[in-house]
Amino acid sequence: MSAILGHRRTKTVSVTSGKGGVGKTTIVSNLAFALARQGKRVLILDGDLGMANVDIMFGVKAEANIHQVIKGEVEIAQAITPLGTNIDLIAGGSGIVELNRLNSFERRAMMESLQSMDGLYDYMLIDTAPGISDNVLYLNSAAQETAIVINPDPASLTDSYALIKVLNQEYKESHFSIICNQVRDETDGMALYHRFNEVVSRFLFVGLDYWGPLTQDPLFRKSAQNQRLILKHEPTSESSRQLLNISMKLERSLVRKNEKSGLQFFWDQVVGVA
Ligand SMILES: Nc1ncnc2c1ncn2[C@@H]1O[C@H](COP(=O)(O)OP(=O)(O)OP(=O)(O)O)[C@@H](O)[C@H]1O
Ligand SMILES: [Mg+2]
Repeated sequence: MSAILGHRRTKTVSVTSGKGGVGKTTIVSNLAFALARQGKRVLILDGDLGMANVDIMFGVKAEANIHQVIKGEVEIAQAITPLGTNIDLIAGGSGIVELNRLNSFERRAMMESLQSMDGLYDYMLIDTAPGISDNVLYLNSAAQETAIVINPDPASLTDSYALIKVLNQEYKESHFSIICNQVRDETDGMALYHRFNEVVSRFLFVGLDYWGPLTQDPLFRKSAQNQRLILKHEPTSESSRQLLNISMKLERSLVRKNEKSGLQFFWDQVVGVA
């Protein structure tokens, strides 16, 4: 079933974190590029509705954003910013603080607009804000797959634990994927995953997959400063290899999923919890 639906429907993945600044936007932008390069059509939703910056990663300026769609000022099709071959963006709208506190009517408007895009893309990747605000929770609960970015900072672990706990207890989410960023090496990444997994599974009944490490690499800061994606401009680097590995894990995990399918699901789910 999933193969047939998967053909027509948009698979939704949120990339999120308990703590800010752990690499979500960097990872989403590079994963989108990896998928698009294979011919997949990718839509990025900048779900960090208050502090959007995916467009900056691609060196593009978004003319319209989801805020205007929610207000009914523009149609969703007009709020799409092309970022490159096979990659489009729905920008979040920088600095619009109230967007991080949408009411249920506004959420509904946003989700209805997104649902109308179902099937136009193979993937929708959602770059969320950090933390456990309502918007973050419902975007994560609505996505088919939620990848949580952690790093060795203890605050990242405790905040991610809190995020998983609330998604599990309030939204019945029981499966997450973990990306260990800014680790020393692959061994360190695996150790961090095991440590986190051990604590989480001691207290919560959830499953955590490991999508892999991303080592601490000065190329990331350089590439952000120059608005050049690492995967595009440093394709032979260790970090690019690790990013491709993560994108393969993402594809594989969605092939396995058929119970939550497409933006229609995304929409139904959100109406259910709004
Ligand atoms: N593996 C890495 N090695 C070195 N620097 C990294 C790595 N991953 C991310 N960074 C840097 O960390 C900073 C934060 O990254 P990014 O903006 O992607 O995080 P974020 O989780 O989206 O933050 P926010 O929560 O504020 O949205 C950026 O300067 C980025 O270049
Ligand atoms: Mg970000």
